[in-house]
Amino acid sequence: MFAPHLATALLLIASSAFGSRAGVQHLLRQQADTNSTNSFDVASCPGYSLDSLTSTKNGLTAKLNLAGAACNAFGTDVANLTIQVTYESQSRLHVNIFDTANSQFTIPESIVARPTASGSSNAHNSDLVFNYDATPFAFWITRRSAPNATPLFDTRVSSLPPTPIAPVIVGDNSTALDGFPLVFENQYLQLASSLPLGANVYGLGEVVASSGIRRDVGTDGGVGTIQNDWARDIADPIDQNIYGVHPIYMEHRFNSTTNTSQSHGVFLFNAAGADILLLTPPSSNVSLIEYRLLGGTLDFYFISGPTPQTVMEQYAEIVGTPTWQPYWGFGFHLCRWGYPNITAVKEVVAKMRAANIPLETMWNDIDLYHAVRDFTSDPVSFPPAEMKAFIAELHQNNQHYIPIVDAAIAKQVNSTDIYDPYSKGTDLDVFIKNPDGTEYIGQVWPGYTVFPDWFAPNALAWWTEGLKNWTAAGINFSGIWLDMNEASSFCDGSCGTGIDISNTSTPFLLPGVPGNLLTNYPEGYNLTISGPSGNITVNGTLTFDAPAPATLSARGIGAGNQTDVELNAPPYTIHNANGRLSIHALATNATHTGGYAELDTHNLWGLMEAEATHKALKTLLPGQRPFIISRSAFASAGKWAGHWLGDNFSQWKYMYLSIQGILQHQMFQIPFVGADTCGFNDNSDEELCNRWMQLAAFTPFYRNHNIKGAISQEPFVWDSVANASRTAIAVRYALLPYWYSLFANASLSGTPPVRALFWEFPNEPELFAVDRQFMVGSDILVTPVLTPNVSSVDGIFPGRGKTVWRDWYTHDVLDAVVGANTTLAAPLGHINVHVRDGAALLLHETPAYTVEETRQGAFALLVTQSADGHAFGKTYLDDGISDPPGPSTTVTVQASKSSVKISGVGKFHVAQKLTQVTILGVTKKPATVTVGGKTVKSTYASAQQQLVLTGLSVDLNANAGTTIAWK
Ligand code: GLC
Repeated sequence: MFAPHLATALLLIASSAFGSRAGVQHLLRQQADTNSTNSFDVASCPGYSLDSLTSTKNGLTAKLNLAGAACNAFGTDVANLTIQVTYESQSRLHVNIFDTANSQFTIPESIVARPTASGSSNAHNSDLVFNYDATPFAFWITRRSAPNATPLFDTRVSSLPPTPIAPVIVGDNSTALDGFPLVFENQYLQLASSLPLGANVYGLGEVVASSGIRRDVGTDGGVGTIQNDWARDIADPIDQNIYGVHPIYMEHRFNSTTNTSQSHGVFLFNAAGADILLLTPPSSNVSLIEYRLLGGTLDFYFISGPTPQTVMEQYAEIVGTPTWQPYWGFGFHLCRWGYPNITAVKEVVAKMRAANIPLETMWNDIDLYHAVRDFTSDPVSFPPAEMKAFIAELHQNNQHYIPIVDAAIAKQVNSTDIYDPYSKGTDLDVFIKNPDGTEYIGQVWPGYTVFPDWFAPNALAWWTEGLKNWTAAGINFSGIWLDMNEASSFCDGSCGTGIDISNTSTPFLLPGVPGNLLTNYPEGYNLTISGPSGNITVNGTLTFDAPAPATLSARGIGAGNQTDVELNAPPYTIHNANGRLSIHALATNATHTGGYAELDTHNLWGLMEAEATHKALKTLLPGQRPFIISRSAFASAGKWAGHWLGDNFSQWKYMYLSIQGILQHQMFQIPFVGADTCGFNDNSDEELCNRWMQLAAFTPFYRNHNIKGAISQEPFVWDSVANASRTAIAVRYALLPYWYSLFANASLSGTPPVRALFWEFPNEPELFAVDRQFMVGSDILVTPVLTPNVSSVDGIFPGRGKTVWRDWYTHDVLDAVVGANTTLAAPLGHINVHVRDGAALLLHETPAYTVEETRQGAFALLVTQSADGHAFGKTYLDDGISDPPGPSTTVTVQASKSSVKISGVGKFHVAQKLTQVTILGVTKKPATVTVGGKTVKSTYASAQQQLVLTGLSVDLNANAGTTIAWK
């Protein structure tokens, strides 16, 4: 969605629903109703006591019984719980507290498969130790290596003083909570753990955090963070819930006495709408993390790290490693909303070529569609035959094409309107329903819509067919862009039955049209009858906010007849910044196959769509890696797709904020991520676009995307931007073997390709909050300009003076200030990139127009010796497309004082030779240089201690290796 207008609309909805006198009274009534059945006095909640403990081979199991009278704070207390503690591996401890009756919703195994336990871990050999008090029940996790150190997680916090929460949304009842006992109710679960005062906490998201990458834990009586977990279509607001949900955090602890650090991670395997708070109680010597969940179970995985990267790798062991990306996916992508026709798109492709700015993949937004419907192209503006020819030409030029796929499927407007995806989907019963079994109707770009139900048995086959037919109709895509999949809907919950389906207009003007402020209600909304509440009334009956009908008997696998749950308005108000959960989304009582309610599964929609699309692409493009970018995501989504950071703004602030978004998603195991380069909402300008095209060239997913109605911002629009883009893309394409190897490591082991500085230098506290710079792998440090009208930039260079940083372009050693900022020259069009000592980077020697042409060229090697001559690097080479990945060859480069050894291992045939080698750190000009024993010519530059060999022909295939030696 487009932001400013949407934001205005939401404000209007919110104020009209709640701002008026009637609205406020309605709200007060609602609260009073809730109050009559529920007490807010959480402090009086009795907690649990543990008994019947049985030791198991890998842990223990026990009963937890309610330790007093039920408090029923925001639902009904569950009297009997089970706790299962499993030492799943050396580094992973699973603590699962669930209702013994198994009535709560839990994420089905088919959606996120559970990790398997190693079998050999137990209470005596794991890195982590589970400790507990029986009454009141509390547990804490320690490291085996440091049993007396502050626990990593510690729920013995019920007596800590309450911390006031300023009401932040209308209807907020969270302020009334006054303590931290363990609460397990059918619609409200609460668990808090202490953290060291001012702890270094990272992750929890998706979010654009005002605090930067390190989350704010508050100070003395303050709440620093309310991370809301309710997937939401909204243009990147600060500190609010946005598109994806990832209940994983990493904590990094530094010991200033020993100058050492350890990291650990905590993952809550729960998809419920939730608030996760970071706060510091008044006059307290600890900070806290508190989970407040609308459902599910308290299902925690603790991972021991002990480095930031091992935490991330261990998280990947739980949720899965990211999908393999095709090599071409690392090329430059170009998109915008608002190309009126195929002629305009062709013109852009031609202008990119004329300006010699590499264009790897051309994208189309919803402009492509006929009547804004999925799987179509407009017969007049994007005629199928012309599209087919256009895409074929792209392919001939080694380029690619990606179209958008929106989440909602248009509903046929009348009996003569034939829209196969809808009629076929109806026949195959693949759409979400109302609780009474009728079709659930929402509203998105095409007008009234239905929504795929990914739980439906026929959904995958139907989706695959839709994509297949689209290809056959000319849209021969190489990948898919999944949008609006939170899932977004413009009505507040259900649009109702009996509405005028033929009305296909959206309830607001599109961006760029004068007067597009959203002051109107959606079509079909009758202000006179319904009042300003935003509710839709049909024949005098509310079509949402109605109690769940009796036909809805199950909330999930194993759920009983939970007639006592309030699906539409759970008693606890999570901090969904839209207000009620159904605003700009599906109604929470919308029903999926198997009786799953939207309330429980909302956060999973995008993940499930990504999985279905991934599987569909495997069928349609057999043997090739599916390339998918998805807006909404949940834990494990990286297995299926990459991600973009949604609707940002053409502002400097958002260019800076993109760095934290990219780093977050490395933790979330969705490393293939990027921001809309040059900014989406509002007009960009030359300077911002210049800097952003350069910055984004060092981020995994590199796409310039723009909103309809804004001025053009393709990289050829301004000469300086064209120049800056060519420069940065050339560096990117030279580095592709490095990028690709980093992503191979991610897919194999969950190692993050892009890194915060402290992930590489974990014992330097001055780096713990740095998010204006970032690293690509362990060897490249990027220091982008993030402010306008400057020609220098400040950056910190880690290593405390022991690490040597060399300028990428000049190879000069940087004279860096130790432990503080160094000022670097940064004229417009120049992005500072530095290479760490000890690196050995295999590069493409000649970056070309496309990734394929670049790949066909020879290799170069850059070696940066450290003071003792050491350097090391591994490069993973394969065909860049096969799925599952085919044979690979790993090229290892190992340098010592006066030699560099290059050797390949593996079965992939590397056709290209290594023709050029640059070695930095060679302290004096060698008299002779040999390659494989034969003397070769070389040049030497003493200022950079640089030895350069050209005209080589080194074979990188598996062999005994080639040694370069000098003396
Ligand atoms: C959403 C997407 C945006 C896209 C627009 C039109 O706002 O986030 O990228 O351009 O819809 O499809």
